[in-house]
Amino acid sequence: MTNKQRNISPSVMKEDKTLDLALRPQTFSDYVGQEKIKKNIKIIISAAKKRKEPCIEHLLFYGGSGLGKTTLSYLVAKEMGAGIRTIAGPSIKKAGDLAAILTNLKEGDVLFIDELHRMNKICEEMIYPAMEEFKLHLIIGDGPMARTMDLKIPKFTLIGATTRLALLSSPMRSRFGATFRIDIYKKEEIEEIITKSAAFLGVSIHKKAVDIIASRSRFNPRVANRLLKRVRDFSDVEGNGSITVDDANKALAFLDIDEMGLESGDKKVLETLEEKFSGGPVGLQSLAVASLEEKETILDIYEPYLVQIGFVKRTPRGRVITDKARNYLKK
Ligand SMILES: Nc1ncnc2c1ncn2[C@@H]1O[C@H](COP(=O)(O)OP(=O)(O)O)[C@@H](O)[C@H]1O
Ligand SMILES: [Mg+2]
Repeated sequence: MTNKQRNISPSVMKEDKTLDLALRPQTFSDYVGQEKIKKNIKIIISAAKKRKEPCIEHLLFYGGSGLGKTTLSYLVAKEMGAGIRTIAGPSIKKAGDLAAILTNLKEGDVLFIDELHRMNKICEEMIYPAMEEFKLHLIIGDGPMARTMDLKIPKFTLIGATTRLALLSSPMRSRFGATFRIDIYKKEEIEEIITKSAAFLGVSIHKKAVDIIASRSRFNPRVANRLLKRVRDFSDVEGNGSITVDDANKALAFLDIDEMGLESGDKKVLETLEEKFSGGPVGLQSLAVASLEEKETILDIYEPYLVQIGFVKRTPRGRVITDKARNYLKK
């Protein structure tokens, strides 16, 4: 299994695309948790409506994969009654492509740019005047004859999403009216998401089975939905159609996810930290080399969760294992 295919990976896998779409909340009230963010956004939208403005200030969402950035962006557009155009940062390579997208927007539309930190510099420069004054500065011709021309574009709202705020340039960051950090969820919230998703999929599930899946979901909605789907498949084949505690336990054991939500990759990182570096502190680079993992995988997948459950601490001198993790490894 490659890292990308891991069951606990929060990034989009092939099968998630349809699952994400099917289970994506259609209203703010179905969007579980993130209460403060929802409240703030509703205020921003009603204030703009009251002032009869065609769009709202540009919004930036940041947080790990699968935590609901895309979903939230669609809900914002819906709440505004606006159209939404989605592009992925790395997919627009030429300034001309971006110019075409911007000039084709309708007044009031939302332009959602996913993975904004991966958009190239030329496009970034082009989008600043678009964000600030709804204009494009075009350069016509080249050499000494070159001249610039300003082109007006429709007023729009940019919503940017990124998993890596630190990789976004500060001029880019400063052009957003509001920035929201989407945090991992509380266990009760994940339970609510699983319960709603099960109802949507038309499958009955025991309350305790919901609890088991939630505990192993890394508190990430995408992972939770994916595990629910795997458990349901298992229960359809091996069980009686209704998801029982036994189904959940067996399916998750089969998927090699233990009761802490850890997979073999997490354990390898922990063991490497303990055995090869006497528990640390150790830098990311050395840890990656010694555990035969990519730096990004540790950074995006393993570490956030290991830190969250108190198994690893990040100190200025590097990663350190905790007693809690040592006790876990001894088992
Ligand atoms: N707050 C939430 N409430 C309910 N379901 C959610 C929530 N956030 C995410 N999800 C579920 O997780 C899936 C992945 O969310 P998505 O918005 O695509 O994450 P991101 O864009 O941050 O990677 C969604 O399709 C949805 O099913
Ligand atoms: Mg997304």
